[in-house]
Amino acid sequence: MDTGLNDKVAIVTGAAQGIGRSAAEKLIARGAAVVLSDVQREAGAAAAAALGARASFVPCDVARYEEVESLVGATVARFGRLDIMVNNAGINSNRPEDRVTAERYPLETWRRIIEVDLTGAFHGSRAAARQMVLQKSGAIINVASVAGVVALRLQVGYVAAKAAVIRMSEAMACELAPHGIRVNVVSPGSVLTDGTRELFYADAEKARRVLSFIPQNRPGETRDIADAIAFLASDAAAYINGHNLIVDGGWTCGFTRDF
Ligand SMILES: NC(=O)c1ccc[n+]([C@@H]2O[C@H](COP(=O)([O-])OP(=O)(O)OC[C@H]3O[C@@H](n4cnc5c(N)ncnc54)[C@H](O)[C@@H]3O)[C@@H](O)[C@H]2O)c1
Repeated sequence: MDTGLNDKVAIVTGAAQGIGRSAAEKLIARGAAVVLSDVQREAGAAAAAALGARASFVPCDVARYEEVESLVGATVARFGRLDIMVNNAGINSNRPEDRVTAERYPLETWRRIIEVDLTGAFHGSRAAARQMVLQKSGAIINVASVAGVVALRLQVGYVAAKAAVIRMSEAMACELAPHGIRVNVVSPGSVLTDGTRELFYADAEKARRVLSFIPQNRPGETRDIADAIAFLASDAAAYINGHNLIVDGGWTCGFTRDF
């Protein structure tokens, strides 16, 4: 199985921290040159600096198409091609006023989450595909969530955005396959990051409740998701197209808790 990425050129959005940063690190370890991108300029530049000579940073807000186009343009200007596009940038809201049922769900929260999580992934996929069609090759990986596979309460905007990312990716997989481009999705379960540590895992009782849904009884590590992304980016996944690779420790495969 050839999971090597020597001489490949990749972009990872939302790469200043968390899953995106880990994905960038993994792609570099497998031999790729990686352009990290994020709205957080200082943290993004620092993340790239820490990853060595094959990492660089270009700031970009994925909600703005012209910035995404510039990101792809800068990458192609420097490396002459783009082989791997990882659309990882995403937001959710954990403010108590946003964790409400749909009839009270703030319109602004809905709009912003759709704009970043869904439209941002479309922007990245579209801009990458325009270059990859010219090359007649490429791999696009969109990061969705288990929330796009099974609905969760009190997060209607996030659930809708992530479900749409999965279906959008399938549509693009059908369209782009004749051009030698594969489009796949990675859907993480509950992954330990600075954000989720504070939200779910700092409090023992809360952590126990979350883990009671997860057969493997642990949160995912960012490297678990990065491994799935790197696999789908590689030639080992040459015949995998339009797939949603769920990386959730078994969370969505059935009911873990006893009746
Ligand atoms: N951590 C989890 O448990 C989990 C679970 C399921 C899915 N996910 C998904 O994985 C992806 C990464 O999540 P994470 O946990 O690493 O989150 P994170 O908040 O740690 O990192 C997200 C990064 O995206 C950047 N970002 C936010 N808005 C942006 C924009 N408009 N343009 C460019 N960059 C932007 C942030 O600055 C940040 O660096 C997201 O799409 C998220 O929905 C995470």
